[in-house]
Amino acid sequence: MTGLKALTSASSGSETGSGVLPQSLNMRVLIVDDDSATRKMLAALLAQMGIGCTQAGSGKEALHLLKAQPLDAVISDLRMPGISGMELLTEVRRLHPHIVFLVVTGTDDIQVGIRAMQEGADDYLVKPFQVDAGIVSASLARALHKKRLEREIENYRHHLEEMVAEQTQQLREALSQVERSYDHTVEVLGAAIDLRDSPTAGHSRRVFLYSIEMAKALGGLEQHQLRNIAMGAWLHDIGKLAISDGILLKPGPLTDEERQVMQQHVQIGYDMVRGIPFLADAAEIIFAHHERCDGSGYPRGLKAAEIPVGARIFAVADTFDAMTSDRPYRRALPFKASRDVIDQESGKLYDPQVANVFLNIPGETWETIRRETATAQAFGTATASNIQALSGLAKSGNG
Ligand SMILES: [Fe+2]
Repeated sequence: MTGLKALTSASSGSETGSGVLPQSLNMRVLIVDDDSATRKMLAALLAQMGIGCTQAGSGKEALHLLKAQPLDAVISDLRMPGISGMELLTEVRRLHPHIVFLVVTGTDDIQVGIRAMQEGADDYLVKPFQVDAGIVSASLARALHKKRLEREIENYRHHLEEMVAEQTQQLREALSQVERSYDHTVEVLGAAIDLRDSPTAGHSRRVFLYSIEMAKALGGLEQHQLRNIAMGAWLHDIGKLAISDGILLKPGPLTDEERQVMQQHVQIGYDMVRGIPFLADAAEIIFAHHERCDGSGYPRGLKAAEIPVGARIFAVADTFDAMTSDRPYRRALPFKASRDVIDQESGKLYDPQVANVFLNIPGETWETIRRETATAQAFGTATASNIQALSGLAKSGNG
């Protein structure tokens, strides 16, 4: 039985992976060889297998044909003038990574064929071909099968990447929804504090906005730190929800005993929120919001850098808001007078760096925040605007 007969009888296999070419395979092969006799012989061999061929006498012509028409495989000689077989291989791999590429070597340069495979060739054939046509057929079949697997893997990987991207997007949206839910929850809690402590109406809202303004101007803070400062400032007095009306709303000065009860609001607030994961860092600000730079604050008498930066920022915002707000026992101080007090107490009660940041922010900025907060409250829109502020902060970082 000749090689061709063997091929014909064996080619009933339907899978190229079986090592033989299926009869139904409608493929076109480009034969590249500077020797026309070799080209013709190989073309005749492939024609008997039912494979159509296009011929090129040089690497340059081969590249032109590959560009001009669809081809499934290249069988190229390695030794050619001009563009060599190896150079053609490199170029074909760059331009047509999915095309089958077989190299042809003589019996004396098999090592070159092996090197070609290391460089991306799918297989190598040894001249003369007439020894066994089945070898050519099997080589083509293996290479086609390999390429098909490569394409399937690539398609699978691409599909996998698309799936991962889609699921990542879904996860982001879900997280965003959860964050918005957090914002709503925090918003309601803050509003409850302001309603409870009516003499300082809008206080939580204003110190929240003042603190964000200073935190952004201070710089060097990560997005999550800004968010924690915003949350901590917004909820700083949450512990006051547990203080009795008789003490919280007392118009006159507190007795020592009442003051001690009132001061418990930092511990109560801290205990209320520290177990909530997304408020755990804000809880530290709540706990330290009455600490002062010189150690004169409470409850722990922390000094300077011992105090969380969010609480140091808050201390300035809190004092500024208290001085510029009307109280039952006195009228609000002018903005300039309030700024002078903070300037005088810089380095004592207040972190000098934070105080400096505060003093460098134009007075119009504070006036605008106060005016807009009052307007929002009057029209009952403050809740929505603060949720947007919190959400915007989370998205833009320091924007
Ligand atoms: Fe407080």
